[in-house]
Amino acid sequence: MDSIIVTGNGPLSGQISIAGAKNACLTLMPATLLSEEPLTLTNAPRLSDIATMSELLGSLGAEVTQLQDGKVLAMSSHDLNNHTADYDIVRKMRASILVLGPMLARDGHAIVSLPGGCAIGARPVDLHLRALEALGAELELKDGYVHAKAPGGLKGGTIDFPLVSVGATENALMAATLAKGTTVINNAAREPEIVDLAECLQKMGAQIEGEGTSTITIQGVDRLNGATHPVVTDRIELGTYMLAPAFCGGEVELLGGRMSLVGAFCEKLDEAGIDVTETDHGLSVRRRHDHIKAINVTTEPFPGFPTDLQAQMMALLCAAEGVSVLEETIFENRFMHAPELMRMGAQIDVQGGTATVTGVKQLKGAPVMATDLRASVSLILAGLAAEGETKVSRVYHLDRGYEHVVRKLSGVGANIERIHNS
Ligand code: EPZ
Repeated sequence: MDSIIVTGNGPLSGQISIAGAKNACLTLMPATLLSEEPLTLTNAPRLSDIATMSELLGSLGAEVTQLQDGKVLAMSSHDLNNHTADYDIVRKMRASILVLGPMLARDGHAIVSLPGGCAIGARPVDLHLRALEALGAELELKDGYVHAKAPGGLKGGTIDFPLVSVGATENALMAATLAKGTTVINNAAREPEIVDLAECLQKMGAQIEGEGTSTITIQGVDRLNGATHPVVTDRIELGTYMLAPAFCGGEVELLGGRMSLVGAFCEKLDEAGIDVTETDHGLSVRRRHDHIKAINVTTEPFPGFPTDLQAQMMALLCAAEGVSVLEETIFENRFMHAPELMRMGAQIDVQGGTATVTGVKQLKGAPVMATDLRASVSLILAGLAAEGETKVSRVYHLDRGYEHVVRKLSGVGANIERIHNS
């Protein structure tokens, strides 16, 4: 398994280009199942999760052709010859559950393995299933698989989500586009990835209103056409790299960044003493003084502070002046980066969903282990500003969500390299 070695190397300067959003691409790809016409995605990120989704769609009979070194995904699901998403693929990536709604909507039947939990929590899919039942689906759980049927096709209905779920909103939205009649989704997720999916579906001929708000209304249509759609910029990659100059000093411009994608995050950066300015090509970030001020953070569904940036912000606050409190309200076990940061000298007290961080003057490089995608990158950020060398192992977690991280960070002056262990 590969490792990444980072050595603190002073202020950073230059530009980092931000890729298309992993979490948008992972829901845009299953949308190809809704139409027999080709769907082409541009600005796609080159990530292992995208390869896994391509493998899953291929196992169903869809074709996914990577063009321009993977930045373009030309997809066609004209001949679906298999309606079962196997456990072997689904267990590798929970977003596989997003083929359920489209397959059911298009052909009236689907069998999808339950994804199982992951490092950050149990992550059930009950809200996905209840949403599809509200559209008339008949579901049966057998041998770890969801057997879904909609013999006469799905019918429009009202879906009331008791809590905000990004994936369940996406499954419901895609399924509703081909349901007979009107569907209303209440307490829908408002993430930019939902808006991006809706815009792609509208290009395919779907009738959708209210995307980006808590209530989405869909008028079902008989069929959807093909389309070409650019994947929205990855707001989590954007926020992650915004923290690099905040940690190390200097100034970095994030190409493709937009304030509207990271509103709540920028408010917290401002509180911590970090300036973010919009440029012609993106966002430029520099810290106001040579220290960061302690702040309090609570993760919330969009437009609140994103849970996917909690680990990265915690790493920054380990070197802030004062005591910060981070509340993780979305997932039940998303502080696994804390013990690894403590190996670097951080002072963190975790009590349930609350982490209290007492800033230290200087983090110290150390061997640390990545436990999940966002934890892995928080350790690299910490290593950028630590004294001495930090070796992050199990970086396969990183490859799921960050393309060319070594190239992007060394391009702005970081001392970082990847070593291939046997
Ligand atoms: C999406 O996961 C993202 N993944 C996650 O990003 C992100 O952290 C999460 O949304 C929250 O923003 C993708 O888009 C592929 P949820 P998702 O359904 O859809 C509970 C990353 O690092 N819940 O919004 O799985 C759930 O347990 C990943 O890129 C149910 O109880 O998240 C959680 O506590 C990590 N029942 C809360 O809702 C359900 O049926 C929010 O989960 C579904 C979810």
